[in-house]
Amino acid sequence: MDKHIDLVLFGGTGDLTMRKLLPALYRAYAENTLPENLKIFTTCRSEKQKSDYLSNAETALNKFLNSSEIDSEKIAQFLSLVCPILVDINDSDSGWVGLSDSISIGVGDSSREQIYYFAIAPSLFSICCQQLDEKKLIGKNSRVVLEKPIGYDKTSAEEINESVARYFKEEQTFRIDHYLGKETVQNLMILRFSNLLFENMWDRNSIDHIQISLNETVGLEGRAGFYDDAGALRDMVQNHLLQLLCLVAMEPPNQNNSANIRAEKLKVLRSLRLIAQSEIKQHTIRGQYVTGEAGGKLVPGYLEELDKPESFCETFVAIRAFVDNWRWKDVPFYLRTGKRLKQRVAEIVVQFKPITHSIYSQSAGEPVPNKLVIQLQPEEKIQLYLNSKDLGKSEVKLQPAVLDLNLTGNFKHFHSDAYKRLLLDVINDDASLFIHRDEVKSAWGWIDPIIESWKQENYEPELYRSGSWGPESSNDLLSEDGRKWHLATEENCNE
Ligand code: BG6
Repeated sequence: MDKHIDLVLFGGTGDLTMRKLLPALYRAYAENTLPENLKIFTTCRSEKQKSDYLSNAETALNKFLNSSEIDSEKIAQFLSLVCPILVDINDSDSGWVGLSDSISIGVGDSSREQIYYFAIAPSLFSICCQQLDEKKLIGKNSRVVLEKPIGYDKTSAEEINESVARYFKEEQTFRIDHYLGKETVQNLMILRFSNLLFENMWDRNSIDHIQISLNETVGLEGRAGFYDDAGALRDMVQNHLLQLLCLVAMEPPNQNNSANIRAEKLKVLRSLRLIAQSEIKQHTIRGQYVTGEAGGKLVPGYLEELDKPESFCETFVAIRAFVDNWRWKDVPFYLRTGKRLKQRVAEIVVQFKPITHSIYSQSAGEPVPNKLVIQLQPEEKIQLYLNSKDLGKSEVKLQPAVLDLNLTGNFKHFHSDAYKRLLLDVINDDASLFIHRDEVKSAWGWIDPIIESWKQENYEPELYRSGSWGPESSNDLLSEDGRKWHLATEENCNE
């Protein structure tokens, strides 16, 4: 028999629940991958929110699902699993009665499991755990899901993790990084660890450098308060970018399970070379967008969106990073992320070295070094850049060609949804794609000194036009090394 699961979404009326979590759960429901005995509790803070909940949820589903996924009958069936419930996290008496009555019966019953998803501010994690504990809602079959940001620096992250650890063991704690739920990210591991072709060349002997870019076209999207305190380094690099770097750089785990994968990722994080204050301007670039044209229209600059005369928050960051271990010694990892850039592209580029000797005459042209491009967004695809013969010519002419594995095109009915994948993993108690507490700590251990050096050096962000590829010095970071960013534009196919 299917297990019985109570899933509680704290922050039930929030943006994340409406935009991502409910659509993801609906998708899983529509594909029959949710357990039959699942009940979804969504917390509300007022009677009004509670009474309007199901109709607001229906509106959100219609808005955030693709039109081909919308089936009003199925949406109605799905919503019958959703139970809005009044919870005031800070009110330990009356604020918890409803939830306590609904859940407590299952705690201690081995056939029932409880999942508490904290889609709330991290400042509430601790009190929420405490209340769950007081109401005896935590048992050995309970799990907790923590949304980022986990902390503001290493100290605050440790405080959060410590306070959660008082109530939930590490194996009950699922720290989410939605980038790890993206299909091409998981495919990266399959590509690396099930194809001899790549794994044998995956080191400093064959690879010239690696680029990881998470370029966005959006601006603040109404999150000014949070973002101005965080900035791109904390918002994107500490988590998503470093997690991708780990998957590219890690040693093959002995087996595909959470303990082994996390152990290998941790070794990478611990091998990251710290950037000295004296080299901070050489290895890191900060930027902030000003007004410009994006998506065919004029968009406001960061300060205008923020409605403040001044801010030193970076909306763009590029870093030259090194992983100091046997495999990667002195291979640069160029990391880049920014808002209001020219194109929304998230990709990992593995640039191989040139061949040692070309047997062709000069008139045939220079062979272009191979390149593997793993694109996560906007399309999920993997491309391998090779050299081929220009078939139209009788004499030998080398011509760059691309082997294209387009996942979205090849799997027609496939709707990639990172949150769906990760929610199902939590339901199935599989933590492979979640972050261990030690990873959070190590990642901050590399980020904190960068922030400190920026402060000490009064390193102000360089302004860049919205709709551009970021500050000029981001190009210099690579050109100084005789390299350039792969921009994922059509021209790149004919480089
Ligand atoms: C979030 C960041 O974690 O990731 C946002 O807080 C960012 O600032 C978002 O926009 C990007 O996610 P995706 O999946 O849209 O690339």
